[in-house]
Amino acid sequence: MTQHQRLLIIDFGSQVTQLIARRLRELNVYCEIHPYQNVTDAFLAAFVPQAVILSGGPSSVFAEGAPMPPKGLFTLGVPILGICYGQQVMMHCLGGKVERGHGTAEFGRAYVTPAGHSLPLLEGWFTEGREQVWMSHGDHVSEIAPGFEVYGTSPNAPFAITADVSRNFYAVQFHPEVHHTPKGARLYENFVRLAGFTGDWTMGAYREDAIAKIRAQVGDAKVICGLSGGVDSSVAAVLIHEAIGDQLTCVFVDHGLLRQGEAQDVVRMFRDHYNMPLIHADESELFLGALEGVSDPEIKRKTIGRLFIDVFQKHAHEVGGAKFLAQGTLYPDVIESVSFSGGPSVTIKSHHNVGGLPEKMGLKLVEPLRELFKDEVRALGRELGLPDSFIGRHPFPGPGLAIRCPGEITREKLDILRKADAVFIDQIRKHGLYDEIWQAFVAILPVKTVGVMGDGRTYDYACALRAVTSVDGMTADYYPFTHEFLGETATRIINEVKGINRCTYDITSKPPGTIEWE
Ligand code: XMP
Repeated sequence: MTQHQRLLIIDFGSQVTQLIARRLRELNVYCEIHPYQNVTDAFLAAFVPQAVILSGGPSSVFAEGAPMPPKGLFTLGVPILGICYGQQVMMHCLGGKVERGHGTAEFGRAYVTPAGHSLPLLEGWFTEGREQVWMSHGDHVSEIAPGFEVYGTSPNAPFAITADVSRNFYAVQFHPEVHHTPKGARLYENFVRLAGFTGDWTMGAYREDAIAKIRAQVGDAKVICGLSGGVDSSVAAVLIHEAIGDQLTCVFVDHGLLRQGEAQDVVRMFRDHYNMPLIHADESELFLGALEGVSDPEIKRKTIGRLFIDVFQKHAHEVGGAKFLAQGTLYPDVIESVSFSGGPSVTIKSHHNVGGLPEKMGLKLVEPLRELFKDEVRALGRELGLPDSFIGRHPFPGPGLAIRCPGEITREKLDILRKADAVFIDQIRKHGLYDEIWQAFVAILPVKTVGVMGDGRTYDYACALRAVTSVDGMTADYYPFTHEFLGETATRIINEVKGINRCTYDITSKPPGTIEWE
């Protein structure tokens, strides 16, 4: 197995630490984020970073118990870049001075101009005399540490960019990782080049390593994988299948709440194209039966979640003797983040569909995507030959169409909903908008309204179109379709889908709304 060059990001609790990692990964540099509390001298010795970045954070170096890196960091002999609070920590530890922010706090856009000599870290900067950067700090450095020189200043930050070139220490007051520092990526690129990174973190290399790791972990044991047809579980399944072949069995639970053609697509792709052992568990009768008469959204979710586990467990037993459960857990799910109420807080989301199963069934986990961000998973999927129709898919929730059918779920409503949804997605694809939209779907409303079609009066369901832009699903805004697009889509749905005679467009953002209707 290859040992990649590794960069360590010490997290002091900035809201945007993950963005630093994203910028570095885009440069094919392998990095990990660790909360400052975990980073001891022993940790550094075991991690062997080739460079270190100190993140920003909300603390003040004056606070009692202020977050600090371990003592040995500055004698490791590796390049270090301090950002915002990271800069203040560097100055504080290396003999400079930090002052409380009274009156000089700086938030938002600022312009940095060059000072002193040129600096390799700033190659490609200041081509227009000054650079826009994003500041967000209360305290500021008032005296730089011995050995440091100033290379950039802003009206409120005389030490916006400082460096001790002989030790390869760099410290900036602003946040190069955010979008509002337009040339921030260039700064990271220069830093990793100075630190000797060769860009050895590629999906091709990752694929080979991951395969070797899976083989070493699993041996000749059997593995089961809950396949949903979503990007993460699909990529995990294909990767594991490449590693251990038919020792892997996928279980695809069809709860009868899938979109038009979805089950066929999944079966065709994985069983027919990739030749994977795949159990297509068609349990729609069971799920729809249990949901009959249920209109409370929470009871719907709980019913589906409970049955999902039962069904998965039943089919997993059919495989016989599986020792491992594969999951498409991603890096953002396992990053430990800094908590100021105590030690590092851990957010480890278990897969919503099979939560609790590994313990219950005595299974160990195989999680080959644990080190990857979502777009890296997509790149790996491409590397593995998965078609774009799978890789670029909009997210689809575990409870499926159940939460797009407010009120009671009936087969009739589900059929109407599937057809309307297919027309909407077809329209979006035809207009080349699919990849601009985070998620799009139709919800069938629990009301019937009066219409007139031809010479007759109709009394049919109303539906709502929903399409949002988002980065991570946590916040979202409605997609600004043109009126022409909306008009054409409504006409198509009402003409082509029997049972719908009225179409609305949901223009609620999240918050205050949610993306799904339930
Ligand atoms: P909301 O509706 O909370 O959705 O704004 C945010 C994102 O999460 C998806 N979602 C779910 N995914 N199980 C899932 O696997 C669920 O119960 C669930 N509820 C919402 C939703 O589709 C959107 O992408």
